[in-house]
Amino acid sequence: MTAKKPVTKKKVTAKKPVTKSKLTAKEKKKKEIDDIFYYRMQERVDELKWLYMELYHNDSMFAELCDSIRRFYDERDPYLRDMDRVREQDPEWYKTNEMLGMMLYIENFGGTMKGVEEKLDYIEKSNVNYVHLMPFLDTVEGRSDGGYAVADFRKVRPDLGTMDDLEHLTAACHKKNINVCMDFVMNHTSEDHEWAKRARAGEGEYMSRYFFFDNYNIPEQFERTVPQVFPTTAPGNFTWLPDCQHYVMTTFYPYQWDLNYANPRVFNEMMYNFLFLANKGIDIIRIDAVPYIWKELGTQCRNLRRVHTIVRMMRMISEIVCPSVLLLGEVVMEPEKVVPYFGTVDKPECHMLYNVTTMATTWHTVATREVDLLKRQLDVVSRLPKEYLFLNYLRCHDDIGWGLDYSTLASQGKEEAAHKAYLNAYFQGFAGDSNSRGELYNNDPVTKDARFCGTTASMCGIEKAGYENNPEAMERAIRFDLTLHAYMFMQSGIPVLYSGDEIGQVNDYSYKDDPHKVLDSRYLHRGPFRWDLAENIDDPETVEGKIYQGLSKLEIKRKTEKVFMSDADMWTIETYDPSVLCIGRYYEGDKAIGVFNFSEFDKTAWINVEDGYYEDMFTGEILDARSVNVPAYGFCWLKKR
Ligand code: GLC
Repeated sequence: MTAKKPVTKKKVTAKKPVTKSKLTAKEKKKKEIDDIFYYRMQERVDELKWLYMELYHNDSMFAELCDSIRRFYDERDPYLRDMDRVREQDPEWYKTNEMLGMMLYIENFGGTMKGVEEKLDYIEKSNVNYVHLMPFLDTVEGRSDGGYAVADFRKVRPDLGTMDDLEHLTAACHKKNINVCMDFVMNHTSEDHEWAKRARAGEGEYMSRYFFFDNYNIPEQFERTVPQVFPTTAPGNFTWLPDCQHYVMTTFYPYQWDLNYANPRVFNEMMYNFLFLANKGIDIIRIDAVPYIWKELGTQCRNLRRVHTIVRMMRMISEIVCPSVLLLGEVVMEPEKVVPYFGTVDKPECHMLYNVTTMATTWHTVATREVDLLKRQLDVVSRLPKEYLFLNYLRCHDDIGWGLDYSTLASQGKEEAAHKAYLNAYFQGFAGDSNSRGELYNNDPVTKDARFCGTTASMCGIEKAGYENNPEAMERAIRFDLTLHAYMFMQSGIPVLYSGDEIGQVNDYSYKDDPHKVLDSRYLHRGPFRWDLAENIDDPETVEGKIYQGLSKLEIKRKTEKVFMSDADMWTIETYDPSVLCIGRYYEGDKAIGVFNFSEFDKTAWINVEDGYYEDMFTGEILDARSVNVPAYGFCWLKKR
């Protein structure tokens, strides 16, 4: 049985014709299209104008924005417009237990866009209905930050394909009910973007789209309050351009120039780029590095109030032109900074956000075998309003930053710097009986802070067991890998897999041979998809088969049991064992619990549930939930009888 959200019908259809005169079918269609636009615009224009004028005080630029919004609406493909109408009438369409995401690099997975299209059957077979195509817009090799330095928002990287290929691919995905996600890197452009080139050549109009300074006075003042994103690979927030004798603001790499959103031309043009891409059939726009988009002297230049004004305007613009599109905010911050990006019920901003603290806390739990911090974190998330939809994940393409609740850890005697050092040592395989393999990222010699890179499988011990040819250790590592996924799937929201994790792909050290990649250890977990290993997925005797089939069982259960709906009640349950986590879920009469053993010892969990007997969701075995045996690194999913 598949649980679906009730459809909230909201009538937004065309108004009745004012005259009685007979319209031809074509005229009728046109009128309907006009009316829909008119209705959507009317609903939002006051607030949009108010926000825009408050920020920019510029009538003519606002008028231009409105004209362009209409143009993009008119240009939208009729099939996308139909999809807009369907989703507009069921605005919660994406909040079901049926969604499963996967993020992948086109070049790693299918070589090109066409190659990805040819492999859609594999994606479908993997139960995935939301695919995040990692950055594919034009960029310059060696100065690309994995594609996050965009040289042209309207051009696909030639080695990956063309805009036509993208449109073809998204249409093919839609035929299979697969949603397509792409990055919209709005904080900066590449220094190879046309605007940057013209700015560099001294054209004032273009210089004003970035932050240019002819001396270090202001940059120096910024540096006093703005932290660093890449302290070792790209220290500082400004780059000196000797050819034009100016500093330019570069929060990320020196070739990524921060855009100045105080300039309405930047906002307008970037909204046109956004709508252009949405019209290629994109369903989910990941707003890259969104907390950074507004800069003010004397601040950290993160999460400023104006960021929310911009995201709110973007949400309204997309609701007018392409309401089927979802906004996913990339806010890699502590929970209290993340949540405001949902906006409010009346003034929503992003549809979805990453559950980043939970992700980092998961790996803290792996290294310490202590579930209390994770339990606390899950309780924080599950107490948030159910309208908030999080994206849950174990790994993504970036490093794992140790953004944990250090005040709670301090009360347990774990001091921040020492604990981070322990986690980094652990995951490199140097401490605490670790089976993990991986590398540090941006190991800051000053603060001694570092983040971590490695695939899920390598961090669970699959790489080590394979290298040591140790079947017993391999069984344990596979079990743990599946347990972590089972725990991730128990959370509310949309689970997103990192391509390759479904076959237990381990670290790829070949990036060290590539001069463009060698300094960025994130490439360790961005290796090409191993199609040779994927051939084993139907063979249950292989590592790949065990993981793929194990995950598949979980995914199918998750899609068919309504207790996994994103707005189900979720809570944690005491197990009286510091290494065993228990999560409860309840939805419309269905109740389930998941028990997850983070330790290397078999455990009996004494679960504090009053209501006795449960059924194992996979074996059908009936058990007394008050004492459940969970093998070392294992889990069970139980359903109330
Ligand atoms: C985001 C991306 C990351 C990139 C950065 C700069 O955080 O996930 O990979 O380096 O933005 O664009």
